[in-house]
Amino acid sequence: IPVDPFDLVIFGATGDLARRKILPGLYRRMCAGQMPQNARIIGAARSKLTDKGFRDMVREALETFIGKDALDKDVTKTFLGQLHYQHVDASGEEGWADLRTRLDEQPDHIRAFYLSVAPFLFGEIAGRLSSTGIATSTSRIVVEKPLGHDLASAQALNAQLSQCFDESQVYRIDHYLGKETVQNLMAVRFANALFEPLWNARHVDHIQITVSESLGVGGRGAYYDKSGAMRDMVQNHLMQLLCLTAMEPPAQYSADYVRDEKLKVIRSLEPVKPADTVRGQYRATATEPDYCTDAENPDSTTESYVALKVHVANWRWNGTPFYLRTGKKLRGRMSEIAVVFKEPPHSLFPTLPSHATNSLIIRLQPDEGITLRMTIKEPGPGGMRLVDVPLDMSFADALGPQSEGMPDAYERLIMDVIRGDQTLFMRGDEVEAAWAWTDPIIAEWAERARKPQPYDAGGSGPEDALALLHRDGRRWREIS
Ligand code: BG6
Repeated sequence: IPVDPFDLVIFGATGDLARRKILPGLYRRMCAGQMPQNARIIGAARSKLTDKGFRDMVREALETFIGKDALDKDVTKTFLGQLHYQHVDASGEEGWADLRTRLDEQPDHIRAFYLSVAPFLFGEIAGRLSSTGIATSTSRIVVEKPLGHDLASAQALNAQLSQCFDESQVYRIDHYLGKETVQNLMAVRFANALFEPLWNARHVDHIQITVSESLGVGGRGAYYDKSGAMRDMVQNHLMQLLCLTAMEPPAQYSADYVRDEKLKVIRSLEPVKPADTVRGQYRATATEPDYCTDAENPDSTTESYVALKVHVANWRWNGTPFYLRTGKKLRGRMSEIAVVFKEPPHSLFPTLPSHATNSLIIRLQPDEGITLRMTIKEPGPGGMRLVDVPLDMSFADALGPQSEGMPDAYERLIMDVIRGDQTLFMRGDEVEAAWAWTDPIIAEWAERARKPQPYDAGGSGPEDALALLHRDGRRWREIS
């Protein structure tokens, strides 16, 4: 379904994110027939490019990130024709009046401004959009992490944005919320009567949330070394996964109903005990360099891995720990949420495998899908021998070709901006609450000044992370 005609201004349109994700995403939406013919994408950046120069750059980006052979000639031509470029000096006067003239040519179009620039420019650009009258009361502004590096800076950023835009106009992207399976988590929970009665501390033993990456920080060391896994992944992506897993059913599937429930989860989080936190940093192996080499900082004590044991202190979850872990340069790329249920209350079968508890595994990537692990009788005449088997649903198998056309997170989120749907975007108070919970953990690490525990690049994480579960009589699911 095509969206209404829009003008999308991408600040930082010549940068990496725009070339890698935003512009290819928009191209794919055009292939899917969702872009209106008169929509305009206006690149805005400091370089002095012409429309033609910008189109050439975008063509190259599409060829690189989608693949030359995969591009449809006609769609590419139309797409490039809808691109324009405006040189703008984010912190000076140049270009703003021209941008306004261009936008005023189409007064009926929805106006959206995507700030794909360094965060220190967010406030300044928002201010100019507002003071020049370019942004109207129906315009939308899109920003992306890092949304501050602690509570105070997040509050300052929110204050800057709120001087120029109403909260209903601000779209804070967490691209994890745009992932297909993350939304499916809500469908699984709230569109099936099966799971919700069991989704609580009475029936759930614990929950594991894993975002494991096989890549290191190569190329992004300068940014990453100042943030580390806690700020880069836990405060946002893992926090969002935790919220969607733990939240109460919202009364409606709409932006503020969902975000109110997520906020309640964050506010229910207990402060994490120091002993329930693990920091790690990958070390070299025969084939892989260490973190410090990748980050080009020989003395770095930044963590590339975090594991936490987290308690959601409310009626539903009291007594059920949530174990979170994320790291770079691990054995595999695997993101999943595993809900591990308690054992049956009475054992009829002495042959029950000791680890045979039901678990529901929601795989975000790769091979998106859902698995329910169950115990059944092993077929054959050997008596009541029990085995643990997966009841597996891969989206690719279940939905066939339909799953291939699934929009990626950015595509979906950009279209939601145009539609004016904030459900999959973070509200300012959520971001602040997440920092308020994260800050003391980071402060305690800094106070102790303990180095992160080394783990082998390509391994499964530091020893202490294994111990975090072992001491509770549990174990992590294998990273594969
Ligand atoms: C980004 C982080 O937000 O998410 C990166 O800054 C991380 O460090 C990336 O690699 C992971 O996203 P995905 O979609 O590849 O799991």
